[in-house]
Amino acid sequence: MYLGLDLGTSGLRGILIDDAGRVLCDAETSIPTSTPKPGWSEQNPLDWINACKEVVEKLRALDETAFSKLRGIGLSGHMHGATLLDSDGTVLRPCILWNDTRSADQARILDQTPEMRAISGNIVFPGFTAPKLEWVRAHEPDVFSKTAKVLLPKDYLRFWLTGEYISDMSDSAGTSWFDVGRRQWSDAALALGHMRVEQMPSLIEGTDPGGDLKADLLREWGLSGPVVVAGGAGDNAAAACGIGSIQDGAGFVSLGTSGVLLVARDAYAPAPETAVHCFCHAIPDTWIQMGVILSATNSMNWLSRNLGQPVDKLATALPDAVTGPSGITFLPYLSGERTPHNDSRVRGAFMGLDVSSAPADLTQSVMEGVAFAMRDCLEALKGTGTSPQNLMAVGGGARSRFWLETLATVLQVPLNLPKGSEFGAAMGAARLAICAVNNAEPAEVMSPPEIEDRIEPRSDLIDAYETEYGRYRQFYTALAPLAA
Ligand code: XUL
Repeated sequence: MYLGLDLGTSGLRGILIDDAGRVLCDAETSIPTSTPKPGWSEQNPLDWINACKEVVEKLRALDETAFSKLRGIGLSGHMHGATLLDSDGTVLRPCILWNDTRSADQARILDQTPEMRAISGNIVFPGFTAPKLEWVRAHEPDVFSKTAKVLLPKDYLRFWLTGEYISDMSDSAGTSWFDVGRRQWSDAALALGHMRVEQMPSLIEGTDPGGDLKADLLREWGLSGPVVVAGGAGDNAAAACGIGSIQDGAGFVSLGTSGVLLVARDAYAPAPETAVHCFCHAIPDTWIQMGVILSATNSMNWLSRNLGQPVDKLATALPDAVTGPSGITFLPYLSGERTPHNDSRVRGAFMGLDVSSAPADLTQSVMEGVAFAMRDCLEALKGTGTSPQNLMAVGGGARSRFWLETLATVLQVPLNLPKGSEFGAAMGAARLAICAVNNAEPAEVMSPPEIEDRIEPRSDLIDAYETEYGRYRQFYTALAPLAA
């Protein structure tokens, strides 16, 4: 049996699978995020540990017999977070998360150093790890001087599970201290960020074994052991493993809190000027390219809060089939934007509101705005020479048929809907555990799921959405200078 643990931004999810990759049971619990100041986003690493204990207890209660045969654990987690530990391994301050924008100035300064993009293959975005440490150096010098190790969120969970300081390539690639082409820490990038390699965990591939579950946890969880903890992955690479996007050109579009358009590549192909992210994949000699938007379903959550209606109610008020653009343009830049603008100051907007505009019109325009933002990601990927022929569609937003048809039409790419519900980052993490325990070939373990349905672009509406997309692009150009 193998346990996949996905430390997500809103909660921790665990699934237990057998050797054939079948899901035996799953469990979930939520994790709070605090926003002490506008633009800040923090979590207490102790909450991750408590969430892990709770999820394991739930899984044991669901299937004690299967759990007792556990051989491997795979970890996935939200990327870029800075968990700072002193020389005793004690957490020094709350973890600063991927969606925290306090270090925008530090990111800009690091990004202007030409070596950073050349080494890391990416823009130094405000959400990435290196600028966070620069912020701590400037604002919390005491904490900075005591920082003996910096761990990414899932690697702190590993530290608690195994006592080891280890990370994997895919997650480390999002720190800006990493040479993504060579798959190793970069002394030069670390030095530019006033850090040293001793402060970093050691590195393994996501499919490699990365420590054994500690004896006290084996006892507490009724296991005889040994239980191997795999290298694991950042959540997007883990999701790619979960849905079988590991061959060159295979990819998915995810409508989650953030929106991601990811394509697997068998060569390192950085293109930081396009704001496309280029990270290591969780399997050796493979990389991922992805466009990331910061507010996908988060835009729907925002609308739902402000209209005082649940997201599901807003979504089901729309028909299944699309009939044409809403005529209202929504810019989904509620937390600034990464791809393609790299703009932490811009904010969202509605354009074209009318006295007759009703909640259903606003819902439609929010879905369209997110679809246009994903199209921006696709265009950025095309700019690097990557042009997917079809994409899997995943994430909470993929439950809305209307949204999917809008997205397929705006992207002009067919979207495949996987059958079943278990192919996310937790599944990817569990599959990495299978590889680590059995030294199995990733291609044999990470097969794509069966396709349940295929959403084709609406050829009769492509032109209408193309015109709207042009307007959407113009609105950003006009508004960005005013957002200073
Ligand atoms: C990727 C990114 C997010 C987080 C949270 O660069 O910031 O996708 O990993 O899910």
